[in-house]
Amino acid sequence: MSVLLGLTQMGYGQSSYELSLNAKKLGAPIQSTMYGLFFEDINFAADGGLYAEMVKNRSFDFPQNLLGWYTFGKVEVMKDSPLFENNPTYLKLSASGHDHKHTGIENEGFRGMGFKKDETYRFSVWAKTVESNSPQKINVQFLDSKNDVIASQDLEITSNEWKKYEVVLTPKKTDEKGRLRIFFLTKGNIYLDHVSVFPTDTWKGRENGLRKDLAQALSDINPGVFRFPGGCIVEGTDLDTRYDWKKSVGPVENRPLNENRWHYTFKNRFFPDYFQTYGLGFYEYFLLSEDMGAEPLPVINVGLSCQYQNKKEECHIPVNALDEYIQDALDLIEFANGPADTKWGKLRADMGHPAPFNLKYLGVGNEQWGHEYVDRLAVFMKAIRAKYPEIKIIGSSGPGPDGKEFDYLWPEMKKLKADLVDEHYYRDPKWFLNNAGRYDNYDRKGPAVFAGEYACHDHSTGKQNSFRSALCEAAFMTGLERNADIVHMCTYAPLFAHVDGWQWRPDMIWFDNLRMMKTPNYYVQQLYGHNVGTNVASLTWNKEPLKGQDGLYASAVYDKNTKAYIIKVANTSTETKDIKVNINGLNKKVTPKMGECVKMHAGEMSAVNTLDSPNNIIPQKTTATLNGNQVSISIEGEAFGVYQVICE
Ligand code: AHR
Repeated sequence: MSVLLGLTQMGYGQSSYELSLNAKKLGAPIQSTMYGLFFEDINFAADGGLYAEMVKNRSFDFPQNLLGWYTFGKVEVMKDSPLFENNPTYLKLSASGHDHKHTGIENEGFRGMGFKKDETYRFSVWAKTVESNSPQKINVQFLDSKNDVIASQDLEITSNEWKKYEVVLTPKKTDEKGRLRIFFLTKGNIYLDHVSVFPTDTWKGRENGLRKDLAQALSDINPGVFRFPGGCIVEGTDLDTRYDWKKSVGPVENRPLNENRWHYTFKNRFFPDYFQTYGLGFYEYFLLSEDMGAEPLPVINVGLSCQYQNKKEECHIPVNALDEYIQDALDLIEFANGPADTKWGKLRADMGHPAPFNLKYLGVGNEQWGHEYVDRLAVFMKAIRAKYPEIKIIGSSGPGPDGKEFDYLWPEMKKLKADLVDEHYYRDPKWFLNNAGRYDNYDRKGPAVFAGEYACHDHSTGKQNSFRSALCEAAFMTGLERNADIVHMCTYAPLFAHVDGWQWRPDMIWFDNLRMMKTPNYYVQQLYGHNVGTNVASLTWNKEPLKGQDGLYASAVYDKNTKAYIIKVANTSTETKDIKVNINGLNKKVTPKMGECVKMHAGEMSAVNTLDSPNNIIPQKTTATLNGNQVSISIEGEAFGVYQVICE
């Protein structure tokens, strides 16, 4: 087989194939959660990314209080705010005492601020006058990258009580690397805190909202499940820096700062200004899941810090001391689903969502391994099952798709009766092609599979989001689809990366402060996400699934709602392949007709999309022909195609 595959790559394979699609027997149901999203605040995915806040260190509570800020004139850092106990720092601005000297502050944003001409931006600040009742004035400016003022508004601070003030500005120019500047204009003193700039046009128009283009891109995938908040960020570098969901809810001004573990994870991609404000927290996450129609799948800390970085037992919470962590898990379920008269359900209602979010899944631990994980998971499961038996629990199979940890953990997950097991694979193209049959012989009686983090790492391009990587993922995913009876979810990872601030690649969507680029990998996910189907359909060649023979991979589903068969074919050879699919056993009264057919092809396997050329590789319409119940597909070498056949 491998010899044949080698020859095929050189172009000696056969070029026509007759496949059989069994329309007589409906295959296993496909879960609505099958294709989803994984979100982690890595690569400036949240602060500086999806979270639309444009001011970095808006509360002055980074360890270096003025990181991201420039000050001029008389500016004093103040501590112990009476207003926000979790973000105690604020600033005092005083008149310089000289007509030609100025007092003020300037913020550099997240590697700049992206302003769009004629769009509106809401500047807000908590402020008060000091030692005087007379109103004071500030001038708020947006600057472009050449230091020219592109928007300006005065704002009066009228009260000696803390209050939130707002003003809307409209830049007269587009600039990706803009800044915010505030001049203090009057003779007295003022206090300022929580200085914020958001576009008014956020996703769903929400204040404290999300960047509309990025959220829209997520929604456009049609995700069935949405995993959050990671990833290693669940564990932290140590437990002090773990993601603590309780800090991510309630008034945004009082959510405390957390270090972002990715600021120092890789010395060669070091970002000392990377913190988590928790501005995009669990409430915003549940809302976005609801908006997209995706099942939320939170992952909570199991009492273990990152096991790569913490080898000693004392770095973790002892098995007999997990109460606080378990309570966090139970409280999260209450926050999501509890009635509004429970403690955490009330907080959700107070934040604006009295109805429950209908949480069904919970990941316990991220990428954990060893008996230290199993011992802790057992205690968590007992407590969660006792209080919330309806919640489906997801356990980990470790950091890789095979090997010692994996072989130890799967049987343990079966013993514990986990509902799903999370598998992670960041592997090269060959691995993805060789593993399209990975699940064909999996145990059908054990837990279901959640392919919770995966991406093809194309080392020949320096791990870029090449078309090769996307095609290999498409080929591999035919195997996920064929085995949808046990593979219930899969989520590509990571999701986002800022072009000037990434730590890890490949990533599904790249962005700068104004633009966004969907990778070929994104489009593969989208094609699967829009062609999920309701049931697997058996598709065979010589009675076997196509899982790499002559470089071909194929699977099919039936969609009860649209009454369509959807055939997916990945051709990883360099040859055009002519494929005939006989739809066998179709009711005689049905006359099939072709529905939408789409393909992805790039000419060059190393081709990529970029911010300047985001449409290099996008799905394009293609055709297939029907002769009675036989579909004829001609697919060129190195291409992925999706073909709908409507049978009503
Ligand atoms: O996706 C990036 C990282 O890969 C995740 O944080 C972690 O779970 C895995 O090791």
